[in-house]
Amino acid sequence: MTALQHVKLGTYYVVHLPEADDFDFWRERARSLVQCDVPPDRIAWVEPGGSGDLFAHGERRMPVPPMDAKPVRANRRFVSLARNAILHSDPERFALLYRLLWRLQSNPRMMEDKADLDVRRVEELDKNVRRDSHKMHAFVRFRLVEIEDEEVGEHYVAWFEPEHHILRANAGFFMRRFSNMRWSILTPRGSLHWDTETMSEGPPAERHDAPGGDPMEDLWRSYYASIFNPARLKIGAMLKEMPKKYWKNMPEAALIPDLIAGAQGREAKMVEKGALEFEERPDTLAAIDKAIHACRKCPIGQLDNHAVMGEGPQDAALMIVGEQPGDQEDQMGRPFVGPAGQLLDAHLEKVGIDRRAAYVTNAVKHFKYVQRGKRRLHQNPGAKEIDTCRWWIESERAIVKPKLVLAMGASAARGLLGKTVSISKVRGAPIPLEDGSELWVTAHPSYLLRLDGSAREEQARLFDADLAAVRERLEELA
Ligand code: URA
Repeated sequence: MTALQHVKLGTYYVVHLPEADDFDFWRERARSLVQCDVPPDRIAWVEPGGSGDLFAHGERRMPVPPMDAKPVRANRRFVSLARNAILHSDPERFALLYRLLWRLQSNPRMMEDKADLDVRRVEELDKNVRRDSHKMHAFVRFRLVEIEDEEVGEHYVAWFEPEHHILRANAGFFMRRFSNMRWSILTPRGSLHWDTETMSEGPPAERHDAPGGDPMEDLWRSYYASIFNPARLKIGAMLKEMPKKYWKNMPEAALIPDLIAGAQGREAKMVEKGALEFEERPDTLAAIDKAIHACRKCPIGQLDNHAVMGEGPQDAALMIVGEQPGDQEDQMGRPFVGPAGQLLDAHLEKVGIDRRAAYVTNAVKHFKYVQRGKRRLHQNPGAKEIDTCRWWIESERAIVKPKLVLAMGASAARGLLGKTVSISKVRGAPIPLEDGSELWVTAHPSYLLRLDGSAREEQARLFDADLAAVRERLEELA
């Protein structure tokens, strides 16, 4: 019997998916079914553990498309949404995607119809999945496990409860981020194990399979307490970014209630210490530009130099922050145009970040140097100078409102956090900022310029990995 005869006779097909997140399998089956003209209501999609018995009389053999079947139409937008939406835990997702694919054959522009209920639903699934992945990137916390066998070395284990089937799709993220660490991520949907060379998958786990605490937790806690700025506390934004349900797996979350309760008192102390002593905040970038040229709040502004304003689109999703302008930046009045800027440009291009779409600026607005003959030699800004200049970077952030801030180097990180942090400890994971945006920290390109040989190669690799993570995150937030 041909496929067409089957369909006419009212056959319905049962497709058993081998894995809940297997897009390629779904796509291959969906293509054949479309080419055999099988309408959506004649197919039951059953995922592992699903109720296949209900369809015991359905046809399990797939119809074979005729030789002259038309190619299946699926535009890029559909494929990219479908790849993500298939990771959702909604059992109806396969049927929804097939319905969309089926309808696309007669209406190729359907994905542009914002009012279409199927299109809206697939967009919603995609959004939920991206949010779940983001939470996983941000809130997985590894705990050190004691292992008797010394040869095995340290092993870190994390427990996480994703809402959707995102574990396998995010394996690459954690592999790149923690490539030198032996780790396992245990979840109720399955587990991942990385031994610094190969990734393997394991069965679902339970909470008690993961360890409860280790000395690293104290570090996390003191780190979080140190970056918590009471003057910028917005409880609503914080809860939105870090929902309570994730707190139980995050050691630093135990501090949150106390920090919030003590925030008012700490803010009053900050005001007393003069940390907030600027006048009214400028509300345009042009006003900031004007004001920094007149700023003499710290000794750097007294040198023979020019203030260098940030540059880039006012609505940029990404803000890139360096330390301070160098000699060439000072002369040209633009950030990152000298050797460090050229290196930065090359790495941004390599990982696919468009510098023109980013707002690029510095933690300190004037060039700090010592004169040696005709040369002006760069000097690092001091903590007080960076802290004084925070006013300007905060003013820029308040106007540009980037979703993601990339701080390059320790001075930039201090300019954003108000505290000194160690790059190697904080790089590679987002730090939530009080306005709901997130901070990523990496090395400064000048640091790479000072190295050579294998040390340079290793740092360049880490730098690229950090930039690639930022690009991925930007895509998720888009
Ligand atoms: N280094 C920085 O930190 N910023 C610049 O603008 C140039 C070099």
